[in-house]
Amino acid sequence: MARRADILLVDDEEALRNAAEKILIKEGYRVTAVATGEEGLARFKADGADLLITDLMLPDLDGIEVLRRAKQLRPGVEVIMITGHGSIEKAIEATRLGAYDFIEKPLDKTHLLKAISKAVERQHLANENRQLREQLQQQHTEESLIGNTPAMVVVKKLLRQVAPTDVSILVQGESGTGKEVVADILHALSNRRSGPVVKISCAAIPETLLESELFGYERGAFTGAAGSKPGKFELADGGTLFLDEVAEMSPALQAKLLRVLQDGRFQRLGSNKDQQVDVRLISATHVDLPKAIAAGKFREDLYYRLNVVHIGLPALRDRKDDLPLLADFFLKKYAARMQKDVHSIAAPAVEQLLAHNWPGNIRELENTFQRALAVATVPVIQSFQLLSAPGQTGVAVHGPAVTFPIGTKLAAAEDRLIRETLAVCGGDKEKAAKLLGVSSRTIHRRAAK
Ligand SMILES: Nc1ncnc2c1ncn2[C@@H]1O[C@H](COP(=O)(O)OP(=O)(O)OP(=O)(O)O)[C@@H](O)[C@H]1O
Ligand SMILES: [Mg+2]
Repeated sequence: MARRADILLVDDEEALRNAAEKILIKEGYRVTAVATGEEGLARFKADGADLLITDLMLPDLDGIEVLRRAKQLRPGVEVIMITGHGSIEKAIEATRLGAYDFIEKPLDKTHLLKAISKAVERQHLANENRQLREQLQQQHTEESLIGNTPAMVVVKKLLRQVAPTDVSILVQGESGTGKEVVADILHALSNRRSGPVVKISCAAIPETLLESELFGYERGAFTGAAGSKPGKFELADGGTLFLDEVAEMSPALQAKLLRVLQDGRFQRLGSNKDQQVDVRLISATHVDLPKAIAAGKFREDLYYRLNVVHIGLPALRDRKDDLPLLADFFLKKYAARMQKDVHSIAAPAVEQLLAHNWPGNIRELENTFQRALAVATVPVIQSFQLLSAPGQTGVAVHGPAVTFPIGTKLAAAEDRLIRETLAVCGGDKEKAAKLLGVSSRTIHRRAAK
C-alpha cells in the first residue's frame, strides 16, 4: 500500500545500482539512480524524492554530507544509508543526522525491500499527521470571525449556540460581510463536522440548471443528460448544504424546494424513486427577504422553513470599531503570505480606513490590504488605494420627497430637510448626517435647536 514512492538512489557501483533499480521498479517504486553525491543532490533539489538511499562512501562527497544537505533541503525526506565499510562512528553520526536505517553490502533483496517499505510507511504516517495538524489549525471556530463590537459578539455567541442543533439557518448580510465564513463555522462547530459541506450559489447557476444541480438527474432526464448525476442534496448527505443567494431562486424552484423540505424526500430529475437524505440547511442572502416577500418575489412559507434561526451580519460601516482589529489581522496575514516585512500603518492611512464607507465590506477591506502589501516597499503602509470614494453613504436615497414652495427661506428649508431626513432614518443622527453629507455634529447641533 505504501508503494509508488519516489526513490533516489546514489551509489557509485554500477552493478549495485542496476540490480537495485530493477528490484525496486518491479515492486512499483519510481526510481532515479545516480553515481555521485553532487548529481544526487542536484536531482534531489530539482525533483525531490520521498526516499533517498545513499552509499556512505562516494567518490566525490561523503554519504553523510549528502544526507545532511538533503535533510536541509527537505526535512521530511527519509534516508537509508548503504554501508560496506562498517564504520561505527559514521553510522552513529548518520543516525544523529536523521538517517532512518542502514543496509549492508552486498545488498540483500529482502532486507532492502523491508527497509524501504518501513521508511515509506513512516513517511506516509508523518505526512498524514502533518495534514491532520494543518486541518486542525485551519479549523473554523467562532473566533475565526474577527471583530468584538457588540453586534459581532452577539453573532459569535449565537453561532456557538445553534451550530450543534440541526435547525435551518438563514444568514443575511450585505456582500462581503462574511456569510460564507459563518456557514463554514456553523458546519465546523456542528456534530456533522466530519461530514461534507456542500455549497451552491443560486445566483451563479443558470435557472435551467439549478434544479438538476440541486436534486440530480437520471440518464435521459432531459436533452443532453447522457449519464446520471447526484445532486447537491445527495452529496451533502450526513453534512451541511449551503444555499447561497437563495433569493435568486425562481418561484417554481422555490415551490419545489419547499415541497422537499416539507416531505423530507425528493427525486432525481427523470426518476420516480424517492430519495431521503440527512442534510442540515444553511441559506444566505444579501436581500432583505421580508421585503422580497412583500414584493411578491419570495415565498413566505419557504422563508419560515429556511429562517428557523436568523443570523444578521452587520455591514462594516456599522462596526467601524472593528477596523483596527481587522486591519491588524489582514496586515499580518498578507505580510506573512507575501513574506514582506510590513508591520504597521501610518496615521493618515488609518484615517483613510476610518473615513471610508466600505460598500464591499470585509472583502473590500481584505482586497485593499492585499493590494497594499503587494506594492509595499517599506515597513509602514503610508496610504491605501481605495476603489470607491470615501464618504459614499451606501444608504440608498429613497423614501418620501420633500418639496418647498418657491419663496421658502433657506434656513427654514434646511430645518425641514433635516427633520424629514431624521424621520426617515428613524432618528439615527449618524445615518441622517451621512445622507445629508454633513458631519454628525452638525445634525446634533441643528436637532438641538
Ligand atoms: N469577520 C471576519 N473576519 C475575518 N475575515 C472575514 C470576516 N468576514 C469576512 N471575512 C473574509 O472576507 C471575505 C468575504 O467573506 P464571505 O465570502 O464569507 O462574504 P459573503 O458575505 O459570503 O459575501 P458575498 O455575499 O459577496 O458572497 C472572505 O475572504 C472572508 O474570509
Ligand atoms: Mg458569499
